[in-house]
Amino acid sequence: LAVQPFHGPHQAGIITPQPAAALYVAFDVLAERRADLAPLMRTLTERLAFLTRGGAVPETHPQLPPRDSGILGPTVLSDNLTATVSVGASLFDYRFGLARARPRHLGPMERFSNDALDPAQCHGDLLIQFCSNTAETNIHALRDVIKATPGLLAPRWKVEGFLPPHVVKTMGADTVRNMLGFKDGTANLDARDPRVMDRYVWVGQNHGEPAWAVGGSYQVVRIIRTLVERWDRTPLGEQEAIIGRHKGSGAPLRQSHERDTPDYAADPNGEAVSLAAHIRLANPRLPGTEDNLILRRSYNYSRGITAAGQLDMGLLFVCYQADLTAGFITVQNRLSGEGLEEYIRPIGGGYFFALPGVADPENTLGEGLL
Ligand code: HEM
Repeated sequence: LAVQPFHGPHQAGIITPQPAAALYVAFDVLAERRADLAPLMRTLTERLAFLTRGGAVPETHPQLPPRDSGILGPTVLSDNLTATVSVGASLFDYRFGLARARPRHLGPMERFSNDALDPAQCHGDLLIQFCSNTAETNIHALRDVIKATPGLLAPRWKVEGFLPPHVVKTMGADTVRNMLGFKDGTANLDARDPRVMDRYVWVGQNHGEPAWAVGGSYQVVRIIRTLVERWDRTPLGEQEAIIGRHKGSGAPLRQSHERDTPDYAADPNGEAVSLAAHIRLANPRLPGTEDNLILRRSYNYSRGITAAGQLDMGLLFVCYQADLTAGFITVQNRLSGEGLEEYIRPIGGGYFFALPGVADPENTLGEGLL
């Protein structure tokens, strides 16, 4: 039951290894004035710091509602919880006079060619990513936040994600399988390398962003349904050609080990890995394209049945980058038209900016912004 530190130059939950359970909740901010935002951020900081650390819940008088939902028992366990707060472009609209503080790449998520976006599952003024060992811990934290912010936050959409329960997944080191049965995360950035994270993930002084944003990161959330009934009837060879890797080992096609690096220079016509394969379009490994690398931190999801009677499951795709345009937007534009599109349907999500970390207990989330 590890405790993830709440305080630091960056928020936890971005380069933190991924525990098994995730919960993403987007909110509309109900506060009407700029002056109400600071108390909201103070409350969030205080609650999330406590939930992350854990501890005993104060006793309640029987005539009052309990202080805590109680679903974790009389003592709140940290359970590896991280709660990462990010803000959407709409927070910078006319309401709070924050337009000039908007991170320069932050706008509403555009509609890409294969998208079937449901407005009820898109965007939001604020998003909290809860990650921990169990769904209960995430739900407990969400209910605490909702109880502590009446009149300030209204939930807009939520989605839960999972990984195999035995896993705490270090990005760039461990891989798990997604709902298509392929290993996911093989060619990810190594989250343990601070130089790599400083280059690709954290907004620095030299990114031309507002000073308050330094230490934060652009966060992309995409709820991508995978059309698994169709996929499960697709020949193995075709599945592998679409991804560009062997399904069993995870190795690039015509190579043997998961960690082998694809050699596209030796394969200019795509005889081993097709020019239209997912991994080749996502990262062509050509000079200049190293600027487009992103830190992926996705989860699987599975919930109800669609109106058409199909399983609603897929990838809760999440990535972080210091430059949204060079990162996700460029990679997604390269992927547009890929063979995988026949089997996936992006239905929701949004672009957000994960706030810089809370340096010390006397600081609050987003204080440079407000
Ligand atoms: C790699 C699946 C969506 C970017 C991979 C791999 C698989 C995969 C199996 C190979 C293993 C790995 O390196 O992780 C999927 C599925 C998706 C999806 C099933 C949708 C349901 C996306 C999206 C993006 C993306 C939306 C970004 C716009 C990447 C990148 C790589 C990758 C950058 C690594 C390529 C490399 O460096 O060789 N994906 N992916 N993927 N994917 Fe996706």
